[in-house]
Amino acid sequence: MRIRLAKVDDASAISIVHINSWRSSYRGIVPDQVLDSLDYVRNGSRWREMLSNLGEMKCFFVAEDDDGRIIGFAIGGPNREEKTGFNGELYAIYLLKEYQGKGVGKKLVENVAYWLSRHKYNSMLVWVLEKNPAKYFYESLGARPVGRKKIEIGNAPLDELSYGWPDLSILIPNKSK
Ligand SMILES: CC(C)(COP(=O)(O)OP(=O)(O)OC[C@H]1O[C@@H](n2cnc3c(N)ncnc32)[C@H](O)[C@@H]1OP(=O)(O)O)[C@@H](O)C(=O)NCCC(=O)NCCS
Repeated sequence: MRIRLAKVDDASAISIVHINSWRSSYRGIVPDQVLDSLDYVRNGSRWREMLSNLGEMKCFFVAEDDDGRIIGFAIGGPNREEKTGFNGELYAIYLLKEYQGKGVGKKLVENVAYWLSRHKYNSMLVWVLEKNPAKYFYESLGARPVGRKKIEIGNAPLDELSYGWPDLSILIPNKSK
C-alpha cells in the first residue's frame, strides 16, 4: 500500500472509490434514489474539475494497493466555516469497503494532518453524518465532538456532527516522514 498526492488523471479511479464507498456505507442513511442515481462518468468529470483547480492551500491524497490501483482518498484544506476554532478541515475520506479496517484510513488522515501542519494550519475539523459509524474512527484518532448541524441530501433531512482535533501534532507520529 502506498499513499501519494493525487493527479488529475486519477479522477476516474477516484470516482469509482467515491461512489462505491457511498453505496456500501450510506445505504439506509442516505435515500436510495440518491445512491442509485450516482453516475461514474459525471462524478469523474467533477473530480477532474476539482483536481484541475485544487490550488495550493488544499491537499488531495490517494492510497494505492500493491498493483497501483486506487483504493481510497482523503482531501484537506482550510476550514470552510469561520469561527469554529479549527483552522484546517478534513473535507472527505473514502475507502473501498474491502480495504477498510486495515489502517489505511489512519494513514490517510495522518498524511492530511502532516500536510496541513506544514501549510500554516494547527487544528482540524471533520463533518460526519450522525448515523455513520465513521465517527468512531475519528474518535479513535483522538478527535472530540464539537458541533452539529442539519443538512439535506436528496430532500432527506440529516444530522451531521463535527469532530475536532485542537492540536494536529497528535496525528503526526513521525515528523520526519
Ligand atoms: C472511515 C474510514 C475512512 C476509516 O478508515 P479505515 O482504514 O477503515 O480505519 P483504520 O483501519 O485506519 O482504523 C483506525 C482506527 O479507527 C478505528 N475504527 C475505524 N473504523 C471504526 C468504526 N467504524 N468503529 C469503531 N472504530 C473504528 C479502528 O479500530 C482503528 O483503531 P486502532 O488504531 O485503535 O486499532 C473507512 O472505514 C471508510 O472509508 N468508511 C466508509 C466511508 C466513510 O464513512 N467515510 C467518512 C465520511 S465522513
